[in-house]
Amino acid sequence: MVPIIKFEDVSFTYANAQRPALQNINLTINQGDWVAVIGHNGSGKSTFAKLINYLLVPSTGNITVAGVPVDMEHVNEVRDLVGMVFQNPDNQFVGATVADDVAFGLENRQVPRSEMLKIVPEALERVGMEQYASREPARLSGGQKQRVAIASVLAIEPKILILDEATSMLDPKGRREMIALVRELKASLGDDLTVLSITHDIDEAAQADQVVVINDGELVEVNAPEVVFANAQTLTDLGLAVPFAEQLKAKLAERGIAVPNTYQTTEGMVDWIWQLYSKK
Ligand SMILES: Nc1ncnc2c1ncn2[C@@H]1O[C@H](COP(=O)(O)OP(=O)(O)OP(=O)(O)O)[C@@H](O)[C@H]1O
Ligand SMILES: [Mg+2]
Repeated sequence: MVPIIKFEDVSFTYANAQRPALQNINLTINQGDWVAVIGHNGSGKSTFAKLINYLLVPSTGNITVAGVPVDMEHVNEVRDLVGMVFQNPDNQFVGATVADDVAFGLENRQVPRSEMLKIVPEALERVGMEQYASREPARLSGGQKQRVAIASVLAIEPKILILDEATSMLDPKGRREMIALVRELKASLGDDLTVLSITHDIDEAAQADQVVVINDGELVEVNAPEVVFANAQTLTDLGLAVPFAEQLKAKLAERGIAVPNTYQTTEGMVDWIWQLYSKK
């Protein structure tokens, strides 16, 4: 396993803030992993993300991405490695058309026009938006806008894709489609892409390889989703939602039914119930 993001004793305090937004964070994320970051509102998730591409500078401690120190001297290199997509797609568009928007980051990096003409359609194709190249970004649906935002980031071939609540403004279908898209990208790019997804959507987090739990600026847990989500009490104590399947299991257990003691997805739970039912 190759470390791609490394936090060493990182703390961060906003100017004029009473207390640090993040405190003594030590964390290594491995290349190719899909990592979900969860925590209640104001726990420090976005601060964590912004430190990774030097939108914020640690008060103390060190961060590296792919071995490159995240500091003033390496900021351009770091931003080529880390692409970020935010919650509100409308704030991310700079181009008059979808294609212009995807080309923008390439222009900034002085990529020759002949290469741009290849890269832009490829990036749009990756997110299934190739037919929308000449459309106006403002007139797309929320889910389509987020796809374009991802294409713009993919065009610069980042090693790390950070999604900061990038699905939160989407309807359930749009959300499922975005998660499916991330899955597809992971499947085709493999270890070349590390995904860090900050989310309040428990079902999205449950599909990640690792879940990072942040609470009041501190790192509480880093574990596989089945481990994190099996502990309903801890989640509740941290003000986090308990996955539907876990809630259901708890209710069934209250009625004296022997339930699986490992984490189940909703689909896993449906299968289990069918089996139980068919045994009766
Ligand atoms: N620009 C800022 N100046 C001062 N304090 C800030 C600033 N941005 C965030 N904070 C504070 O830092 C803490 C962490 O904020 P952050 O945005 O990282 O939380 P979050 O986990 O992303 O929350 P959410 O789930 O609501 O997006 C909060 O207490 C917040 O009020
Ligand atoms: Mg946030």
